[in-house]
Amino acid sequence: MARAAVAYVCEACGAVHKKWAGQCSACNAWNSIREETAALSAAAPAGKALGAKRGRRVPLGSLAGSEAPPPRAFSGMGELDRVLGGGLVPGSAVLVGGDPGIGKSTLLLQAVARFAASGLPAIYVSGEEAPAQVRMRAARLGLVDSPVRLAAETNLRDILTTLEAEKPGLVVIDSIQTMWADHVDAAPGSVAQLRAAAHELTAFAKRRGPAVILVGHVTKEGQIAGPRVIEHMVDTVLYFEGERGHQFRILRAVKNRFGPAGEIGVFEMTGEGLSEVGNPSALFLGEQGEGAVPGAAVFAGIEGTRPLLAEVQALVARSALGTPRRAVLGLDGARVAMVLAVLEARSGLSFTGHDIYLNLAGGLRVSEPAADMAAAAALCSALTGKPLPPRAAFFGEISLSGAIRPVPQEEIRLREAEKLGFQVAYAPSRVKQTAESGISVRRIADLPDLIDTLF
Ligand code: TYD
Ligand code: MG
Repeated sequence: MARAAVAYVCEACGAVHKKWAGQCSACNAWNSIREETAALSAAAPAGKALGAKRGRRVPLGSLAGSEAPPPRAFSGMGELDRVLGGGLVPGSAVLVGGDPGIGKSTLLLQAVARFAASGLPAIYVSGEEAPAQVRMRAARLGLVDSPVRLAAETNLRDILTTLEAEKPGLVVIDSIQTMWADHVDAAPGSVAQLRAAAHELTAFAKRRGPAVILVGHVTKEGQIAGPRVIEHMVDTVLYFEGERGHQFRILRAVKNRFGPAGEIGVFEMTGEGLSEVGNPSALFLGEQGEGAVPGAAVFAGIEGTRPLLAEVQALVARSALGTPRRAVLGLDGARVAMVLAVLEARSGLSFTGHDIYLNLAGGLRVSEPAADMAAAAALCSALTGKPLPPRAAFFGEISLSGAIRPVPQEEIRLREAEKLGFQVAYAPSRVKQTAESGISVRRIADLPDLIDTLF
C-alpha cells in the first residue's frame, strides 16, 4: 500500500526536515524550506520485502581491463580540461554551478563548440534561451559555423527522446532548473523536479555513454532549488566563481570522481567570450609598483595542483564607531579573526578601536590556512604604517600559540615565487634553503619572530 509522505526540504542545501521552519537549521538560509510529497510504500510485512530477482554479483578481480584509465575527450581549452581531471570522461555527469550572469552559458557554449570541433557529436539544450538567442551569442563568440546541434526544450521526456534518437557524445543542459518532468507533481525549479531531472539525465549518461553537463544556477532567495541538492548524484561538481565587477572567472572542482578536487581554471571575460589565463599568478599580484605601500603582502598559495601567488591587502584605520568594522573579502573570515586574536595575544600589537579591511586582489578566494602568515604580515604592516620588504612572499599557518606551522607543498610555492622574480620568502622553519635556488628563505618560528624580522 502506498501512502503519501510529506517531507520538508531545503531548496538551498537539500536538507530534509520533519517540520516546516522559516530558517533551515542545516545551512541557515531563510525561506528556503518547501513541502514535498513523495509516495512511499508502507513497510512490507516481514519476509515479503525481498524482490523476486537476485542482484547480479561479480568478483572484483574478474573486471579485467577496467584498471585502464577511462578514455577522455579533450576540449583543447587547457584550463577546462585540467579542472575536469584531464579531459571529459564519457558516461560521466558534470554539474557546473554558479551565480546567474557569471558566464556559465558562455563557457559551455565555447566548450561544446570545441568538443564538437574535435569530433565529439554534441547537443546543447537550452531551456532558457531561444535558438535565435543562442545563435546571437555564438556569433559574438565567433562560433556560428561550429557543428553543435541546438535544442530549445524544457520537457524532460521530449529531451530524452531526442537524445535517444540523436546519440550524441556530449549533452549540455542549460539549465537544470528549467527542466520539467511531467510525471513529477511539482513546479519547475522545485527540489522534486530538480532531483527527477538530474536523476533521469545522469541515468541516461550511464546507460548510453555520452557525457552530460548540467548547468545549475546558485540562488540566494530560495525561489528555485540550488545545485547543491543534486551534487551527490553527479560525478563531478564544478563551480564557476568570480566577482561581477572583475573580469576574472575561476572554475573550481569541488568534487571529482575522475581527478583531483580543488583544481582551478582561470578565465577572463572579454567582449568575445571567455579567454584562458595561462599565468594566473601575474594576474592576482596587483600593481607591484616602485614605492611599496604599507599593508600589502604576497601570499604564495596552492590551488589544486597549481601554485598561485596573490596579494593580500590590509587597511587598518582608527574607527569612529563604537564597534569597529571588520570586513574580509576573499579570505576565510573566521581564520582572519583568529589571526587577529593571536596577534593581539602573542605579539603585543593592539588592533582595538581600529576598523580592519582585508582583501585578496583580483577577486580570488582562498581558504588555505597557509595564508595566515601573509594576512598577519599585511595587518602588522598596515597597523604600523611600515611597508613590507619588496619582492617578498609569505606562506605558513599560524597556530593559537603563535607558532608558525608547516604547510603542504612548500617546495612548489618557493619555485613559483622564484619564477616570478621574488627574492625572499618568509616560510615555516622546516623549509630548507637550497644552495642552487635564487630565492632566499627566511625561516620564521613564531609571530614575535616574524615581527622582529620584518620591522
Ligand atoms: P552568461 O553566460 O549568460 O551567464 P550565465 O549563463 O552564467 O547566467 O553570461 C552573461 C554575462 O557575460 C553578461 O553579463 C554579458 C557577459 N558577456 C561578455 O562579457 N562577453 C561575451 O562575449 C559574452 C557572450 C557575455
Ligand atoms: Mg545562462
